[in-house]
Amino acid sequence: MTGRLNGRRVAILGGGLIGVSWAALFYHHGADVTLWDPSETARADANARMQKPLAHLATLDDDSATLGHLNITADLAQALDGAELIQENAPESIPLKHDLFAQVEALADPSTVIASSTSALTWSELAPGLADPSRLITAHPFNPPHLVPLVELYGVDPDRLDRAEQIYLAADRVPVRLRKDATGHIANRLASALWREAVHLVADGIADVEDVDAALVNGPGLRWSVLGAHMAYHLGGGDGGLAAYLAHLGPSQERRWSTLGNPTLSSDVQAQLVAGVSREAAGRDIATLENARDAALIAALKARKSAPGV
Ligand SMILES: NC(=O)c1ccc[n+]([C@@H]2O[C@H](COP(=O)([O-])OP(=O)(O)OC[C@H]3O[C@@H](n4cnc5c(N)ncnc54)[C@H](O)[C@@H]3O)[C@@H](O)[C@H]2O)c1
Repeated sequence: MTGRLNGRRVAILGGGLIGVSWAALFYHHGADVTLWDPSETARADANARMQKPLAHLATLDDDSATLGHLNITADLAQALDGAELIQENAPESIPLKHDLFAQVEALADPSTVIASSTSALTWSELAPGLADPSRLITAHPFNPPHLVPLVELYGVDPDRLDRAEQIYLAADRVPVRLRKDATGHIANRLASALWREAVHLVADGIADVEDVDAALVNGPGLRWSVLGAHMAYHLGGGDGGLAAYLAHLGPSQERRWSTLGNPTLSSDVQAQLVAGVSREAAGRDIATLENARDAALIAALKARKSAPGV
């Protein structure tokens, strides 16, 4: 359902890949979106770059959209004025983000939630940029944020986390909360653990890049799009559920864990990976692959809407 953010103001700081996708999402759901970016080129291009995400969102939602308002500005104070949520998507640099937070803190209403999209920095690394760190939360989306519903939240002020969560829910996102600050949040830790083994499989000569990817997409990846890792094993234990699975096959899991690899990204391994994805891409350029990914994601999201969850 669109229009749930009508009359609510969201400020987007940094209008690159992630900022533009967030802007399109909030605008699609009716918010009054202000987008600020220090780069003139980024500001000039932002509206055009929002059109593809907006078209995706229009395809996904059956009801006619009640769009919001969009203001792209070079004036930070104007961008922050009246915002309930400030979604920061500046480059991944601690000094740069600290400097930006100091400017934001001086201008924004003290009650506003300052939410960082940071992928690899922790709340603890970012918080020293603010005189009052409780104003900051991390709110990590998965690329592209307008299509992948996950947002991972961490902060120290429960009220701000609740208010941010309500806004993400109104924008049709699925927020999850970390109980402790952690590098890579939840999902990128899982993704990194998996990719480490995927690289090991290639580096150790067990399988080619294309076969590792095919094994993932046609096997566990399909199941993981409807069941989490823990619930998948609950269903692997028959009527006895996870407890039965652990009693029967727990030792075999531990045996497998003890054989997992810990590869390094040497120049030789990098060359194998790049050659492998090049074969897998089979001449398709990045834009073609992105379009194929987005079309498949939209189809999967539509199918999930009409299928009962597990
Ligand atoms: N790319 C991803 O897959 C991904 C996924 C999730 C989260 N993130 C996080 O989102 C943030 C942005 O990443 P991105 O991929 O959109 O980067 P990007 O390079 O595409 O965009 C960064 C934008 O920030 C602008 N900018 C430069 N200096 C700035 C400043 N001082 N203040 C505000 N904006 C400034 C740039 O002009 C640019 O438009 C990072 O923290 C990153 O970790 C990225």
